[in-house]
Amino acid sequence: MSRVPLLAANWKMFKGPASAGEFLDAFLPTVPEDGPEIVICPSFASLTAVIEGCAESRVEVAAQNMHFDEEGPFTGEVSPSMLVEIGADGVVLGHSERRALFGETDEDLARKVPRALEAGLTPLLCVGETESERRASDTEAVLSRQVLSDLAEVHDSDLARVVIAYEPIWAIGTGLTATPEQAGEAASFIRDLLRSRDPGQAEAVRILYGGSVKPANATELLGLDDVDGALVGGASLEPGDFAAIVAAAS
Ligand code: PGA
Repeated sequence: MSRVPLLAANWKMFKGPASAGEFLDAFLPTVPEDGPEIVICPSFASLTAVIEGCAESRVEVAAQNMHFDEEGPFTGEVSPSMLVEIGADGVVLGHSERRALFGETDEDLARKVPRALEAGLTPLLCVGETESERRASDTEAVLSRQVLSDLAEVHDSDLARVVIAYEPIWAIGTGLTATPEQAGEAASFIRDLLRSRDPGQAEAVRILYGGSVKPANATELLGLDDVDGALVGGASLEPGDFAAIVAAAS
């Protein structure tokens, strides 16, 4: 099954609207007419500027988080329909920084992923193990728990609309990258988990690798059988670096 590769730029808490605009001025002219799907994930403050900036391009825009309810007394939160109303295409869910620093749980994600799909947003669900979990040979147990519980309430017929990013936590922002063997094994393991849900849909799910992806290692990682793209943090802040990673997937 041929899956369209997807490259996502996770800007985290970098780039306000002005610097986001400067990025787009440099990056958009490099976007190939067709080829991989490209998604930029700015902070909430820069979402509208990036959505407007990308309106004439085929670049999509995703938020970095979302609440599962439509409205309510949840100070500091943003709902699925609010993201749709401003024109977002997707939302990153379950990033390890949100899990570790802001207490996002698998129970939250089991509610958020289906709500995103119902709203028409593409969920980019992040999963991955810590360094100590890998050392204890718990990687597969962690991935099983996260993938199966976070997708528990997603209908089988919607599975193919979910994008999963395998992000080993020890590789995020550290300069350490999973070896192609480690990334490939984890991505294949995740696809097997999806097959246990629905064999047909599992083949269509895009599984990304994330964790210190840069121009120098992108070609090798993106060439792996079960890896269909990358979620890029640090290297996505530089238009030239992100363009080079997009080119590696083209
Ligand atoms: P990094 O971040 O590329 O800076 O390691 C990846 C991520 O957190 O999504």
